[in-house]
Amino acid sequence: MTRLKKIAILTSGGDAPGMNAAIRAVTRTAIYNGLEVIGIKEGYRGMIEKKFTPLWSHDVSDIIQRGGTLLKTARCMEFKTEEGRQIAYNNLREIGVHGVVVIGGDGTFTGARIFNEEFDIPLVGIPGTIDNDLYGTDYTIGYDTALNTVVEAVDKIRDTASAHNRMFFVEVMGAEAGFIALRSGIAAGAEAIVIPEVSDEVEKLNKLLESGRRQKASNIVIVAEGDKEGGAYTLANKVKEHYPSYDIRITVLGHLQRGGSPSAFDRVTASRLGYAAVEALMDDQKSAMVGIQNNEIVLVPFRKAIKLHKSVNRDLLEIAQVLAT
Ligand code: F6P
Repeated sequence: MTRLKKIAILTSGGDAPGMNAAIRAVTRTAIYNGLEVIGIKEGYRGMIEKKFTPLWSHDVSDIIQRGGTLLKTARCMEFKTEEGRQIAYNNLREIGVHGVVVIGGDGTFTGARIFNEEFDIPLVGIPGTIDNDLYGTDYTIGYDTALNTVVEAVDKIRDTASAHNRMFFVEVMGAEAGFIALRSGIAAGAEAIVIPEVSDEVEKLNKLLESGRRQKASNIVIVAEGDKEGGAYTLANKVKEHYPSYDIRITVLGHLQRGGSPSAFDRVTASRLGYAAVEALMDDQKSAMVGIQNNEIVLVPFRKAIKLHKSVNRDLLEIAQVLAT
């Protein structure tokens, strides 16, 4: 028998579409299993500042379709200190919380892992970030919606690129990783994709430009914000210098990639992971992320999810290149 009676839930780091669907799934699965649920507002900061609010089934009605996060989110410096974590722990004990579900990315899970090591409080993580850069899960909540947002935007840019025979450098988010760039680039039919994981992408772009064969056509170059060339502006300026005959424009998509109503895929993923996170806590898991691998739910220790590096899919890279020729 589990001693679990009351659990808490928070969202931390960058918001991602589908976080609300995950909050809903955690809350309702917990209530279904006879557990009480406490929502913690503003991530780890709310744990320190006692921003607690009970969550009932009706509190999570009408949120599955909303972007952002009902619980709000923050990046908290104080939780990085031992003193901050001690206060957070005391506050959780005071309200009788025996387990916590944290929704976020790398930074969120790093905090969770340390917190568990220090105070032995069980924490289970749900991967929620548009970047899809977490080891141990094929998908993170928000990635699919962000991809669809990027593709919709690039389709529009393509109209202008095509009308004017222009080359557009479109910068997409993804932090240090190229997952958003690679998949959205394939889906939008980009002529080139520049990502931090691959070193010869710029050479390949130069070859395309040298050949001159794309000069009288639309060209879309998707650039990951974390690429080593320094982003779309730097890269485009270099290209402008060497190939003045190309008519070049730059678009940085920015935070519009983080918002919006989650896709059906993200809603289902969030619902599955939310359900699995509560089950994991009831099964006495203490320091692990729930993820999806080959469409199956898996448990991945925080230690691995944080430390190990997720690689880009080499098949997708190959396909992107072949289809851009
Ligand atoms: O991790 C999500 C993300 O949107 C990254 O893609 C991006 O680099 C970063 O967050 C932006 O963070 P902020 O909203 O704090 O500027």
